[in-house]
Amino acid sequence: NWKLTNYIDTAIAHIKETVGDQKVILGLSGGVDSSVAAVLIHRAIGDQLQCIFVDTGLLRKDEGRKVMENYGEHFNLKIDMVDAADRFLAKLEGISDPEEKRKIIGNEFVAVFDEESHKFEGAKFLAQGTIYPDVIESQSVKGPSAVIKSHHNVGGLPEHMKMELLEPLRELFKDEVRKVGEELGIPHHLVHRHPFPGPGLGIRILGAVDAEKVRILQEADDIFIEELYKNKLYDTVSQAFVVLLPVKSVGVMGDERTYEFTAVVRSANTTDFMTATWSRLPYEFLDTVSNRIINEVRGINRVTYDISSKPPATIEWE
Ligand code: XMP
Repeated sequence: NWKLTNYIDTAIAHIKETVGDQKVILGLSGGVDSSVAAVLIHRAIGDQLQCIFVDTGLLRKDEGRKVMENYGEHFNLKIDMVDAADRFLAKLEGISDPEEKRKIIGNEFVAVFDEESHKFEGAKFLAQGTIYPDVIESQSVKGPSAVIKSHHNVGGLPEHMKMELLEPLRELFKDEVRKVGEELGIPHHLVHRHPFPGPGLGIRILGAVDAEKVRILQEADDIFIEELYKNKLYDTVSQAFVVLLPVKSVGVMGDERTYEFTAVVRSANTTDFMTATWSRLPYEFLDTVSNRIINEVRGINRVTYDISSKPPATIEWE
């Protein structure tokens, strides 16, 4: 595709010219946009790019290890990984209000990133995987009542970070970002990952968050996602995940009575994420997922499937 290679060549030339021999830092999240931006910028300026990956402890199972493998080892990106799980959990202790949790996670993220970025003091540029829809969204004029959920990862820089922004994907739509990613050699499954919210599992564990609930949710979610891939269903849905409810119910396992948490399997189909329908996943498939979660995840003894559309429900539960 000549247009795409053209875009990549132009972008690389532009990055080289803009950056010169300065240093660039980039917050790598493991998601599609920041990963494609990182690999593209790395193509242009190599080790002048320093990535910072904040493990909030609220990411999907093994996410930190996978990011280091996929991008650190395979693409040779310089990645500084910060294990901040304890900090996030401490700040979240006993907090159950969704908006409050979002604010805490967003603020803590900025604090950790800011602290870490001081290690790379000389950096002149901050790179971000901002894409065209993000630009539009942040430009639209909305009254306070239009803020249904506060999105912590849009809105740019903390005041005191006086760096120039480098946003090489600013003009691209999501499908174009994916094509650029594939053209740069990022594997299909990585550029076609479902979106993952900034506050992560913090808003998929309803109510108060703790380490044990994070572990339970990570295990259950991992089983659902693994089965979607195995059954070639992953690419047929727009976003799929598990939610953990702080609701215990009675069950039976062998001869034992159990009293454990409830998992919600959620899968949505949508084109714009403004409206969505629940995915009509096959019953046999749901049966497999349910059995595996209940049998393999200690702490869950009941699985439900969310059949709500958006609106009036939202895709996430908080
Ligand atoms: P809802 O739940 O509002 O979600 O139907 C729509 C899409 O937005 C994602 N989402 C977020 N993404 N930061 C993000 O980066 C957030 O705070 C946030 N909240 C929701 C959600 O995963 C879905 O893709």
